[in-house]
Amino acid sequence: MNLDLDGRTALVTGSSQGIGAAIAEGLARSGARVGVNGRDAGRLQESVENLRAAVPEGDFVPVAADLGTEEGAARVVGELPDVDILVNNLGIFGAKPALEIEDDEWRRYFDINVLAGVRLTRAYLPGMMRRGWGRVLYIASDSAVVVPAEMIHYGMSKTALLAVGRGFAKEAAGSGVTVNSVIAGPTHTEGVEEFVYQLVDRDLPWDEAQRAFMRDHRPQSLLRRLIEPEEIANLVVYLSSDQASATTGAAVRVDGGYVDSILP
Ligand SMILES: NC(=O)c1ccc[n+]([C@@H]2O[C@H](COP(=O)([O-])OP(=O)(O)OC[C@H]3O[C@@H](n4cnc5c(N)ncnc54)[C@H](OP(=O)(O)O)[C@@H]3O)[C@@H](O)[C@H]2O)c1
Repeated sequence: MNLDLDGRTALVTGSSQGIGAAIAEGLARSGARVGVNGRDAGRLQESVENLRAAVPEGDFVPVAADLGTEEGAARVVGELPDVDILVNNLGIFGAKPALEIEDDEWRRYFDINVLAGVRLTRAYLPGMMRRGWGRVLYIASDSAVVVPAEMIHYGMSKTALLAVGRGFAKEAAGSGVTVNSVIAGPTHTEGVEEFVYQLVDRDLPWDEAQRAFMRDHRPQSLLRRLIEPEEIANLVVYLSSDQASATTGAAVRVDGGYVDSILP
């Protein structure tokens, strides 16, 4: 399959590291011009240099902005006014006992994980529909479906994204624009190795350590290892392509079989 994104402009939110950086790389490898985003301008610059080293022919546009704010969204839209592929990847997560999550924390999770994506969809969807082609994606999580007891505010925000994706797909019906969510599972991103070694024998080499972690702490996973960011990116690049033209309003899983359900 030739996933050719030549001539398309993409924006990947929260992409100066982790899954977002892998998605930015994957989209650029297929020919898209890619807006890369994060708040810390130094880290963003470093990330773009790494991306340029990985994809020398890639066209990367760094846009430093806090997308948890209206001003940040306005800056991004000002610098990248016509986006064909919007990947709402930005998302924060952290554990907190359910009864200790205060109103402000609930609002923060809603603002950053949900409203930031809604705002950018409102900004970019009309242009995509006018041009008759576009892709909007929301990076959700297994936590949208299997809500973890220690992070229900995160689970709430990811469940909300599934509703947002389904709803905007209806808004875009028949326009040539598809809107989908991606249910990503436990992924090998920065910081995860330290987290794993807090729970398993520190003397184990990484591959054995992650398998022990998955066996003992994530037994639902059928993959029995963490997902690599590139594996999430592969699905996102496909959903961003012409070839995925009949997939819309869906929640598509790349969760290593973590969610024990036949649908979605
Ligand atoms: N990691 C997993 O196992 C996993 C599993 C399922 C789903 N997911 C989802 O996948 C997505 C990416 O996760 P990740 O683990 O790759 O994230 P991550 O490693 O924590 O990276 C977060 C990125 O977002 C940027 N960022 C944070 N706050 C921002 C803001 N307000 N405005 C703009 N940029 C901001 C960060 O840069 P700055 O700090 O410089 O802003 C960084 O580039 C999230 O939606 C997450 O919920 C992750």
